[in-house]
Order: sequence, then C-alpha cells, then structure tokens
Amino acid sequence: MPLLDIKNLTLEIETTNGWVKALDKISLTIAPKEIRALVGESGSGKSLIVKAIVGAINEGWRLTADRLNWGGKDLLMLSDEERRQITREDIAVIFQNPTHSLDPTATLGEQLEEAIPDHLIGKGWYWERRQRRNEIVASQLHKVGIKEHDACVSSYPHQIPDDICQKFMIAMALASEPKLLIADDPTKGMETTTKIQILKLLSRLNETKELSILFVSHDLLAIASLAETMTVLYCGQTVESGRLMQLRRRPLHPYTKALLDSAPSFRKDLLPKTELNALEGTIPTLQNLPAGCRLGPRCPRAQKECVKMPEVRYIQNHYYSCHFPLHRYK
Ligand SMILES: Nc1ncnc2c1ncn2[C@@H]1O[C@H](COP(=O)(O)OP(=O)(O)OP(=O)(O)O)[C@@H](O)[C@H]1O
Ligand code: SF4
Ligand SMILES: [Mg+2]
Repeated sequence: MPLLDIKNLTLEIETTNGWVKALDKISLTIAPKEIRALVGESGSGKSLIVKAIVGAINEGWRLTADRLNWGGKDLLMLSDEERRQITREDIAVIFQNPTHSLDPTATLGEQLEEAIPDHLIGKGWYWERRQRRNEIVASQLHKVGIKEHDACVSSYPHQIPDDICQKFMIAMALASEPKLLIADDPTKGMETTTKIQILKLLSRLNETKELSILFVSHDLLAIASLAETMTVLYCGQTVESGRLMQLRRRPLHPYTKALLDSAPSFRKDLLPKTELNALEGTIPTLQNLPAGCRLGPRCPRAQKECVKMPEVRYIQNHYYSCHFPLHRYK
C-alpha cells in the first residue's frame, strides 16, 4: 500500500474570472522508501499540491479528491487535530520560502528544540533531557552543514542569510524523523558544494531510515541524482508520470520531452553552448486557461481533438495524458 495516495485532486480558486481549477485531477503516489520528483515550470501548481497535502490551503478554496490518503486514512475525513498529528509525527515539510514559515519572534534554537519529539529525548532529570536536546540540535545542524551552530541557535530568522535559513529548515524538518519528507525546492539558490551535501544527506536518510521523499524541484540534475520516479506537471494538470529512467528514455508527452531536452545535463550529446530546446511561449495564467489539454496553444503536436481533455492512459506503470503521444505501444 502506498504511504501517500492521491487520486484526482482538484483545487478550485476564485479569480476575477470566477472559479478556476488551479489543480485539475492531480494523481500521484509515494510508496515507503520511494523518492519521487515533482517537476514542472513556474506556476504549474507544485506548491499548491504541497499545501493541499498538508492542509495548508486558503480558507474558501474548494478542494476535492477521489482519494487523498495517508497510510490508508482519508486525510479529508480527519479532524484538524488528527491531521495536525500526522503532519507533526509522520510528514515533514520544507516550504518553498523558508523565511516565511519560521516564527519571527523565537530564536532558531527554540524553534528547532520544539520540533524534536519527546520520544527522541527519552526519560531522565530535566538537565539530562536538556543536554540530550542540545546534543540533537547540534547534530541536526551539523548534518545539514551549519558549522557555527552556537551563533545560529541564538539568532532570530531575520538575522541569518537565506541559504543558512534554507539549511536550517531542512534540519528542522528532519528532526522529527518523519516517514515522508516533502521538500519544496529545497536546494534553490544553494551553491554546488552545499547542494551536493544536502542531496547526499537526503539519499543517506532514504537508505538508512527508509525516508520517503517528495522532491519538488526545477533542478533536473538534482532530480536525476536523487529520484527514482517522477511526476511531470503542466499548468495544474499531471501530464506524465513513471520511473525516471523510463521517462528519460522514452517520454510519451510532448511537454516532458521539451522539459528534458531543455536540460543540458540530461543530454550528453549537447555542446556546451547549444541553444536549449524548450517550448515557445509561457504557461497561461489561471484567468486564461485553454479548454481541454492546457498545453494546446504551445504544443507542436496539437490537433483539433486537443480541445477535449485527454484521458489518463498507462502502460507498465507509465502514465500519460495526451491524445497524440510521441510513441505508440503496440
Ligand atoms: N494564494 C494564491 N492565490 C491565488 N492564486 C494562487 C495562489 N497561490 C498560487 N496561485 C496560483 O496557482 C498557480 C500555481 O502556483 P504554484 O505556486 O503552486 O506554482 P509552482 O509550480 O509552485 O511555481 P514555482 O516553481 O514558481 O514555485 C499559479 O498560477 C499561481 O499564480
Ligand atoms: S493532448 Fe494534444 S495539445 Fe495536449 S500534449 Fe497531447 S498533442 Fe499536445
Ligand atoms: Mg512553488
């Protein structure tokens, strides 16, 4: 059974043009120990999916799903407290803008200590428990590469640079030893050495602690080094999903192909300054969504049928949603 099982998740947002589907029938699953990448250009709805999973969407938006299950439990049927308990104990999230998700009135040390669950501290006199807590704080910060940890724990969020803040959020998310880590663009803006260090840490936790990860990113090189499976999103719709190797070798959806071709690291035959082969145009705004397949206006293979939304089809766990896929299976 998957840990996280999402089927046909739809999120409607009210805009100046009325209600629109910012997420339209999104499906994805994460099995124990799986690392799944969620990829798509800016505005495709990645962060909205993260927020929908942890129940952090704006009041008044309409969220429906055939399934939004955690370990077999329907998250939409749980009380707020039951849902909070799951996000406290089992699912940790690194939101996209770390500085916004930290409490500006508490030091980083106080916030990290609070994130450590009691069972990791164990029993004992209060000074023993405090010492244990300090040890865990130091070790978590060390793991993510924060060396001056004394200065870090006594600082307030606005006093530290963004990259340290990003690393701190990762330390805080991992402190509760979650089953699933949802990381929304966790390596954004990091210099290469730090990025490699963080990716190695995530990979090690996946191996040793069986941590499942939903890795939301634009960084295809990071994705290639970490994830086994990938879900590709375009404008609030899941366009293709499957094993990363399979998608790289034989993408079926024109958008996946354009996305992969636009990444030099994925194309060994590209010379360093070759022009990237991305689709022309930009992702539509929510106020101007085309009917049917939302890639239509930018798609080189679009035909009349594309004004109807394509059904999701699959072959050997490779899902795609396109009337005219790049390959036909017999
Ligand atoms: N609070 C909000 N109110 C109205 N529209 C929103 C809100 N948050 C997101 N949207 C819209 O929903 C769509 C998806 O946004 P989202 O932030 O999920 O994109 P994303 O894939 O995470 O992009 P990025 O890669 O830039 O982080 C966009 O069109 C965005 O403008
Ligand atoms: S359904 Fe049509 S418009 Fe959409 S990706 Fe396929 S060919 Fe392109
Ligand atoms: Mg985002």
